[in-house]
Amino acid sequence: MAVLVTGGMGYIGSHTTISLIEAGQEVIIVDDLSNSSVVVLNRIEAITGVRPKFYELNVMDESALTQVFSENEIESVIHFAAYKAVGESVEKPLEYYTNNIVNTLTLLRVMKAHGVHKFVFSSSATVYGDPHKCPITEDFPLSTTNPYGSTKLMIEDMLRDIAKADATFNVAILRYFNPVGAHKSGTIGEEPNGIPNNLMPYITKVAVGKLSRLNVFGDDYPTHDGTGVRDYIHVVDLADGHVKALQKLDELPGLVTYNLGTGNGLSVLDLVKAFSEASGQEIPYQIVARRAGDIAMCYADASLANKELGWTAKYGVKEMCEDSWRWQSNNPNGYEI
Ligand code: UD1
Repeated sequence: MAVLVTGGMGYIGSHTTISLIEAGQEVIIVDDLSNSSVVVLNRIEAITGVRPKFYELNVMDESALTQVFSENEIESVIHFAAYKAVGESVEKPLEYYTNNIVNTLTLLRVMKAHGVHKFVFSSSATVYGDPHKCPITEDFPLSTTNPYGSTKLMIEDMLRDIAKADATFNVAILRYFNPVGAHKSGTIGEEPNGIPNNLMPYITKVAVGKLSRLNVFGDDYPTHDGTGVRDYIHVVDLADGHVKALQKLDELPGLVTYNLGTGNGLSVLDLVKAFSEASGQEIPYQIVARRAGDIAMCYADASLANKELGWTAKYGVKEMCEDSWRWQSNNPNGYEI
């Protein structure tokens, strides 16, 4: 029996594939390679000694997806495949709603037709909107400020309705805080299209000389140094959370929702300092205006995942920075070879 990983060639999907293989699972990947490279498959094989079966397709292609379910014994699905850039979602809401919502509906329909009842969904701390306080627990009010976030919240709502109506459906909603870091081998990591929107890939591009300096978006937030505070979590810890969530679904719990974060808030300048120390690289920066839509502070209370999954983040900021740097310095052009 296999685990189907949609978006398995992407940043979090590829790290999760490795953790699943290491945990003894058979993995099948579907990915349309719209924001990833086929080279990732070679790297997964080099790390694990296993080359997962790979189908290049978009999850919205219902007949191709049906074929994947017919050809394989699929027991569970981890669904990463989605568009994920906040700014782009504001420019192209139709594309975001279509891709993220329709692909999930298609996948759920095909799963149902094939009697597959275990589903892990990639959600995000973005569903907490501007939280009234930190740390954030799973029962906080939910809201969003952009189409990307709205697709995550709408899919969560759909999953809650489906689970309510169908007692055989088991789903784990995982709300990620800020994923950073890379596999220890330095052979897979984050490679965003174009100029990075997120802080860590921007820092690593400055460190490797591809960008001249970091723009720090505001130093007048009500935080310890005025810059935004986030909960950065190592992608390998996040991957391990998916393995634990799948094990939880074996208990047939119905719908469960977990924050995956470390519980530690770090400011932009804290991360810049930690990265400089870990990499030995100076990161020139300048303070600029706040970015529209940003919040001051966002960090998790991850105690529910600890209690119910036996999961806790193992890696600290030093490893996050060292591993991001190893990946970027070994692969200055990402997966381009
Ligand atoms: C962003 C998204 C969030 C998404 C998450 C995925 C926005 C508004 N939010 O979260 O919906 O789920 O990515 O990882 O885009 N910063 C700088 N300079 C930069 C980049 C970032 O100062 O060049 C600061 C930001 O102001 C923020 C912190 O770094 O305080 C983290 O930013 P980022 O990595 O973009 O993540 P989020 O904004 O938390």
